[in-house]
Amino acid sequence: MPRESTNLPEYWDTYKPHRGEGEQPAPEADVFAWTQYDGHGPGEEFLGAPRTALELGAAEGREAVHLARKGVDVVALDFSAAQVARARRWWGEEPNLTFVQAEAVDHLTHTEATYDAVFSIWGAIWFTDPEPLIPLIAERLNPGGVLAFSQAEPIEGFYGPQPMYGNGLSGRKLTLLRWSYSPQWWADLLKRHGFAEVDAQVLAAPNPEDVGTLIVRAHVPQ
Ligand SMILES: C[S@@+](CC[C@H](N)C(=O)[O-])C[C@H]1O[C@@H](n2cnc3c(N)ncnc32)[C@H](O)[C@@H]1O
Repeated sequence: MPRESTNLPEYWDTYKPHRGEGEQPAPEADVFAWTQYDGHGPGEEFLGAPRTALELGAAEGREAVHLARKGVDVVALDFSAAQVARARRWWGEEPNLTFVQAEAVDHLTHTEATYDAVFSIWGAIWFTDPEPLIPLIAERLNPGGVLAFSQAEPIEGFYGPQPMYGNGLSGRKLTLLRWSYSPQWWADLLKRHGFAEVDAQVLAAPNPEDVGTLIVRAHVPQ
């Protein structure tokens, strides 16, 4: 039986609605961005030179498309039926790219596929308990493979699962959890699960007063 996430996929069905009514054209897939600020931070080179990659929490799929167009074989996973359906409408014919609708832990538990890179941009890694997730990712990486992810800078002193009402403060309860930890905590977890060359840091915003980006990269041994 598929594993259910603590979070409900339907919360994400309306994420990045784009403009206007009805079906919208596909957005440009001309950038690969890890941070919330345009033109800030690394691009796809942060992943090295993978031949295969799995994105966890791809939503509309722009980064996955960008990478596939560079010749990488990409699987773009998301558990929101609406996000995956829209991405397939836009980019279903794109070479080197497969969209999969699945919950991240469930998929990693059952797949036998392995990848040179697993990445997540403000994606499923932020919204999934890392204790079961990280060892599953390690098992699905090829020797020397890379895990890279980004999410919002944690609020200092407030670590662990952070709950919020995803629906606002009236109407049906839709609880959403995000897992936020310090760079040191991530480094320790990754090393505990066999990762090496761990680089976990908060990248400051262009204006250092603004919210930064937690950005993490680690490799499994050759
Ligand atoms: C904040 S969005 C980020 C999406 C995209 N990477 C971007 O930068 O626009 C998080 C995405 O992760 C997906 N997601 C969250 N938890 C997930 C899980 N456990 N399994 C699969 N997808 C998940 C959501 O459906 C959503 O599309």
